[in-house]
Order: sequence, then structure tokens, then C-alpha cells
Amino acid sequence: MTRVVYVNGRYRPYAQASVHVEDRGFQFADSVYEVCEVRGGNIIERDRHLARLERSLGELQMALPMTLAALHHVMDQSIRRNRVRDGFVYLQVSRGAGERDFAFPPSGARPTVVCFARSIPLGQSAALAERGIAVVTMPDIRWGRRDIKTVMLLPAVLAKREASQKGAKEAWLVNEAGFVTEGASSNAWIVTQDGRIVTPALSPSILPGVTRAALIDAIASAGFVLDQRQFTPEEATAAREAFITSATNTVMPVISINGKKIGDGRPGTIALEMRKIFHKVTAIAE
Ligand code: PDD
Repeated sequence: MTRVVYVNGRYRPYAQASVHVEDRGFQFADSVYEVCEVRGGNIIERDRHLARLERSLGELQMALPMTLAALHHVMDQSIRRNRVRDGFVYLQVSRGAGERDFAFPPSGARPTVVCFARSIPLGQSAALAERGIAVVTMPDIRWGRRDIKTVMLLPAVLAKREASQKGAKEAWLVNEAGFVTEGASSNAWIVTQDGRIVTPALSPSILPGVTRAALIDAIASAGFVLDQRQFTPEEATAAREAFITSATNTVMPVISINGKKIGDGRPGTIALEMRKIFHKVTAIAE
């Protein structure tokens, strides 16, 4: 349950929290966001998330709406005021409100800043990880700058809807060349038959996942071999294991792709090991 939402300098009761009808986030998706995992009341990989927020803003020619220290404070307060121990904190910054106009507003216009936190019981994700999830593939119809974390999420919404109608938890998106880019809201990984961990390299085609970056550090220190390269749905289906990563899932085993079992159809041992070591290496905000 979310009790309180930070909107432009004030903590408002959830039911009364709102932004203007002509907010550019609403009209143009002219807005970026971050979702950070909260565990034991602490933000996981906060600095990587805020570095990505700053980069997303920069790519859209927006400045940070306040100092990093002030953002830390807003996120901490959102967690505390919503009494979140385990769950996530959501932060969104839009270019602000004004009469509908494609042109950027004059410099000095006030951005819209929204932050809230919500609890998710730890057991929920753990139970799902014990079973593993199904994914289905579909064409990647998103724009060319998927490395910027904007709220332009309609293709992801439609992909998730189609996945859910097919009994899957996540959609793996496939580009025109026939390679998996990433999940609708996660990064995509496989483990080859000879035990190499594979995930697509960073490019404008995928979001530079914070969970992905933290896991890459963990993989190196745990002595696994990582290849950052493309793979096709056919290679994934023939792989020993598959999994996804995101702030809300951490590492989540994939047990089937398009209805075809991966390995023996149970969560893979390397995926589960990655899930276990993930929180040993992740940075906890002070
Ligand atoms: N989504 N790719 C896409 C398209 C995403 O939307 C996300 C995250 C990721 C994983 O990034 P990270 O590890 O930093 O969470 C990859 C968030 C969780 C969301 O929109 O809810």
C-alpha cells in the first residue's frame, strides 16, 4: 500500500496526489523514470540508478531537478513515510506542465518530480523464482533509443498483455535481424550448454539495466565466463538455462520460451546461483 506520494516539493496523501493534465509526461511521454529495489529499508544500487537517471535526463536535454543529496532525501522519505522494508521506490521526472506545444518550454520552466515507494513481500518473488517463469517472443516495435529510460512504455504494455494472454510472465523482444534485444521490462540472459553466461552488449537497442551491471560484477568475482553478444530465440530455446534481470525481479529463472522447455523445464542452477549471489555484491545506499 502506498500512503504518501512526493509531488513537486510536497508529500501528499496517495488519493490526492496528482500532476497537471497538461503535464508533458502525460501528453508527450516527455519524461524519464527509475525503479529501485528496496530491501531491508535500503535502496539497492541507488547510485547506479541515479547515474542512469542523470544520463536519461541529459539525453533529453534536461537537468537534474534537484541536487543528488536532495533526491536521496526524497527517496529515503518516500520509503520511510510509506513504511517500506522490502519493495521498490519509483522516481519520475517530466519536463513539466504547460500549454500543449511540441516545442520545449522556455528554459527555467519547472520539471515535475514524483516519488513514491511500495512494499512487495520478499516471499512473492522468491516463490516465483522457485517455479521459474515462461516467456514468449514477439517483434520489438519500440523506438531507436531504448537506452533512455523514458515512460514511453506503450509497446511494453502491449507486449506484456500479449505475453499474459499466452500464459507467460515476460515478453522477449526480437529485432528485425532476428536477435533478442531484451525483455519488455527486463534484460535477457541465457547460459549455453558449456556453461557460458550470455547477454546482449549495451547499445541504443537495450536499457542499460542496473541489475545487469551489478550482476556482471558478481559474475566476474564468482569466476563464471560472460559473453556480451546477441542471441536468437532458437539459440535461447536450445540453451541450458535462461533468466531475466530487473530491479523488481533481481534474477528470475526462465523455464520455457514460446512453450518450449529450457533444459529440464526447471529453474537452472546457475540462474539460482546468480540470484543468491546478487545481494552479496550489490551496493546498499548509506
Ligand atoms: N524495468 N529493460 C527494460 C526495457 C526495463 O524496463 C527494465 C526495468 C530493465 C531492467 O533494468 P534494471 O535492472 O535497472 O531494473 C531492462 C523496471 C523495473 C520497470 O519499468 O518497472
